[in-house]
Amino acid sequence: MNTLVQSDEQLFEGLITGILTEGYALADGFLSVPEVKNILEASSRSYEEGGFNIAGIGKNQYYQFNRNIRGDHIQWLDPFHPPEACLPFFDRLHNMARYFNQNLYMGIRDMELHFAVYPEGTFYKRHLDVFQHTTARKLSVICYLNFDWVAEDGGQLRLYFPQDDGTERHVDILPLAGRLVCFNSQSLEHEVLPARRRRYSITGWLKDERPLSAPPLPGL
Ligand code: OGA
Ligand code: NI
Repeated sequence: MNTLVQSDEQLFEGLITGILTEGYALADGFLSVPEVKNILEASSRSYEEGGFNIAGIGKNQYYQFNRNIRGDHIQWLDPFHPPEACLPFFDRLHNMARYFNQNLYMGIRDMELHFAVYPEGTFYKRHLDVFQHTTARKLSVICYLNFDWVAEDGGQLRLYFPQDDGTERHVDILPLAGRLVCFNSQSLEHEVLPARRRRYSITGWLKDERPLSAPPLPGL
């Protein structure tokens, strides 16, 4: 198990403050440039080799595909045997989950992660990251893998915030390489605006339930 270095603690404190005060948090440089390059290479290779599936909506018998709602392709990652390139990211997420459990009593016991690719022209309409039949997902965590992404490339993550006066405000986030975004899975509505070039990310959910059959994740 990794020991927490001071800068990790500052990073995680910053994320907690963002989540508690703004409802979301953003950390640039969560992954270093070489780390992003490695993950991007692993993800794009697997994508080109056909390792991805069209992403659906809903779960189990409610699962369906609808390109008018969601056009990304995904590959689920085994949390116990992630691609080697993803190990630093998984490690940091585990540290983050432990820190959140200790300092925010979040009760994270499990996580699920996938690579995502949005081919040019695709999007994900406004939604919540919850399924109808489970509330296990507590925190949505997305790390972006796109170098030299500019506003004209589209693909912004748009977060919606209801205001006290009944109106609504939104925040747009560019999917920049190394940038991490996290927010409450149960309450924060969001969408991915149409991407005008291929958009890569690694997406995860920290969950407060673990299947009885699953072995525990390190420290969780
Ligand atoms: C999702 C999602 C946002 C993003 O996969 O549920 O909302 O910015 N992703 O990729
Ligand atoms: Ni989502």
